[in-house]
Amino acid sequence: MNCIFLIIWLLSVSEFWAPVFCSGIGCGEPEPLQNGNVILISGSQNQHGSLLQYHCNEPFYSLPKGAKVNYTCSLDGKWKDEQNNSLIPQCIPVCGRPTVYPTGFGRIIGGKDAPLGSFPWQVLITDPHKGGGIVIGDYWIMTAAHVLHGNTRQRVKVYVGVKNLENLSESLEVASVFLHPNYNDSEKNYDHDIALIHVKNSISFNTEVMPLCLPTKDSKYTTGKNGYVSGFGLKEEDMYTNNLMYAQVPVVDQETCRKAIEKVDNTSNTPRLTDNMFCAGKPEGGMDSCQGDSGGPYILSEAGQFWAAGIVSWGFGCGQPGKYGVYTRVTNYIDWINKTIEEEEQRTICGRPIVSVETHQRILGGKVAPKESFPWQVHLSVQGGQSGGMLIDHKWILTAAHSLVYGENNQIAYVGHNNVENLTQSTPLEVASLHPHPGYNNPKYLSYDNDIALIKLQKPLPFNSSIMRVCLPAKGAEYITGWVSGFGLTDDDEMSNDLRYVRVPVVGQLTCRHSIDEVRRKKKEAPDLTDNMFCAGLPEGGKDTCVGDGGAPYVLKHGGVYWAAGIASWGFGCGEPGQYGVYTRVANYVKWIKQTMTDNSG
Ligand SMILES: *[C@@H]1O[C@H](CO)[C@@H](O)[C@H](O)[C@H]1NC(C)=O
Ligand SMILES: *[C@@H]1O[C@H](CO)[C@@H](O)[C@H](O)[C@H]1NC(C)=O
Ligand SMILES: *[C@@H]1O[C@H](CO)[C@@H](O)[C@H](O)[C@H]1NC(C)=O
Ligand SMILES: *[C@@H]1O[C@H](CO)[C@@H](O)[C@H](O)[C@H]1NC(C)=O
Ligand SMILES: *[C@@H]1O[C@H](CO)[C@@H](O)[C@H](O)[C@H]1NC(C)=O
Ligand SMILES: *[C@@H]1O[C@H](CO)[C@@H](O)[C@H](O)[C@H]1NC(C)=O
Ligand SMILES: *[C@@H]1O[C@H](CO)[C@@H](O)[C@H](O)[C@H]1NC(C)=O
Ligand SMILES: *[C@@H]1O[C@H](CO)[C@@H](O)[C@H](O)[C@H]1NC(C)=O
Repeated sequence: MNCIFLIIWLLSVSEFWAPVFCSGIGCGEPEPLQNGNVILISGSQNQHGSLLQYHCNEPFYSLPKGAKVNYTCSLDGKWKDEQNNSLIPQCIPVCGRPTVYPTGFGRIIGGKDAPLGSFPWQVLITDPHKGGGIVIGDYWIMTAAHVLHGNTRQRVKVYVGVKNLENLSESLEVASVFLHPNYNDSEKNYDHDIALIHVKNSISFNTEVMPLCLPTKDSKYTTGKNGYVSGFGLKEEDMYTNNLMYAQVPVVDQETCRKAIEKVDNTSNTPRLTDNMFCAGKPEGGMDSCQGDSGGPYILSEAGQFWAAGIVSWGFGCGQPGKYGVYTRVTNYIDWINKTIEEEEQRTICGRPIVSVETHQRILGGKVAPKESFPWQVHLSVQGGQSGGMLIDHKWILTAAHSLVYGENNQIAYVGHNNVENLTQSTPLEVASLHPHPGYNNPKYLSYDNDIALIKLQKPLPFNSSIMRVCLPAKGAEYITGWVSGFGLTDDDEMSNDLRYVRVPVVGQLTCRHSIDEVRRKKKEAPDLTDNMFCAGLPEGGKDTCVGDGGAPYVLKHGGVYWAAGIASWGFGCGEPGQYGVYTRVANYVKWIKQTMTDNSG
């Protein structure tokens, strides 16, 4: 507004109004920071020279060392740090620093009710067995393998931030479960008693939920050092409570514990203490972990930060003299934990490019997409033309049904570059099969309903920073303002060699239908807008709304992750006022997509 006002005012006094004042129309709204915020420090209206600062939600998230927080609006309309970098920082979860520290007790008989916020990494598992667990990351929970044994993920129920067993919120959705490969449930020896649970949705951290730090391989278990064990199974004077309980117990020397175990039972039916375990407890007995606590944490602290030393595994009785609690020694499993997490994230990660694009975007013909900003983009070269698509899995491309050409070797798919030359010089992906939606039937180009198709590849693609899938729509996904990317977006009337993108808002269904009626009045025939479609574009038009690629992805961002909202389907002309691009509404087809992928797996 300021800017326009300025033009009018200057026009009236001089000819010299030129782009000087408005060339940098400003940098637009800065990109929001997940788990943090952004504050304008100086300047106004996001104009050139404005300064802003990013902050993470302390004390639960912090910026990595060396991350930049100050960004200035530069002349070319971008927010940049002092190194002229326009990538925004990322907030990293803080681990092992509860807002309320548990207090130690010289001796305790019976556990203590844990004050709210003192063991925020505590997890409750109710199914298949009652047990505990430990939050170790925004998608990860660690527990004992024997708590989960032989059970599929559908039956695992996990809760975080539990205050009281009588009032459980909803269980987290479990994506997958990993038992240590050397754990053998039928041997009952508790060796390698460790498991990881991958949850579907990112866990947000606050006073009540925070991850526990993982140790390094050489973190020390010093005999006599006090640690804390916590759980919902600890009992007080033979009474189970509904509250989280904790107790302070010292690390016990390995030999002392081995002898104590042999003393209780030296027959072959008893588990042996292996080097993958350690013990904690007091020689005189007293409070200890108990049945129902299995999988929960035993924590030690280092410089005010707690780390996951042990996982409650087994023991004899509860808190009896000379009987110690036995824990999985977490330091022995750091490599396995790391490898499991990395492989799983590689397998399941979606919609998280390492390079993000600007959120404000209204440039004719779109803007050249930086390398690795739309890593799901697929370039399909089809007889005499081109179309777009997006990777939604290691072996699957989502595109429009109308852009498929049937026959052998007709679609040539490329990925991994933001330039047509580089794409076509790379090795094309081998296509295994085409799967247009069975409801697509468009002989006269007037019926684009169900304009969606899947392409299956011969070989699974490994993902990296330049090749990555986009997420599928979540339940109740909201259609607001997204990005469309393609090689067909043009600057002038030529095809583009570079991948380009524009940001365009979703238009109300009624507004769009009216604009189509308008065309129909002039041209007599026009396709119908169905509920399986949505429109996007700017009412005033502009080439920025023109998409040359059928099948091009329209993505929306939610919770820091991009998801596939639309597939470019049809439209009239290019960027004329009041005419919008029409996209297939992907959210209506999630079931079909998943079913098709399952039916044609292998
Ligand atoms: C960011 O800018 C503010 C205000 O100019 C300044 O006080 C602060 O030192 C800057 N921080 C960094 C890390 O450069
Ligand atoms: C950043 O860009 C400005 C203007 O283009 C230039 O003057 C400055 O030297 C650059 N700074 C760095 C660290 O590259
Ligand atoms: C259970 O939790 C809800 C919301 O967290 C709260 O409103 C309600 O009062 C709680 N009920 C009991 C019995 O604690
Ligand atoms: C697990 O232990 C049982 C009993 O010792 C044995 O029969 C079985 O082969 C073991 N399974 C694996 C996968 O090693
Ligand atoms: C337990 O049995 C082992 C051999 O099976 C023996 O070496 C050890 O001394 C015994 N320990 C005790 C406390 O009896
Ligand atoms: C695994 O270890 C490598 C090397 O130490 C590290 O860079 C990486 O961040 C770790 N990954 C996870 C998921 O902890
Ligand atoms: C193609 O890729 C190479 C190396 O990655 C790069 O140097 C070159 O600029 C790219 N070509 C185009 C036209 O972008
Ligand atoms: C990503 O993987 C592709 C195919 O495996 C490879 O050609 C490309 O160089 C990789 N890119 C990066 C940035 O690692």
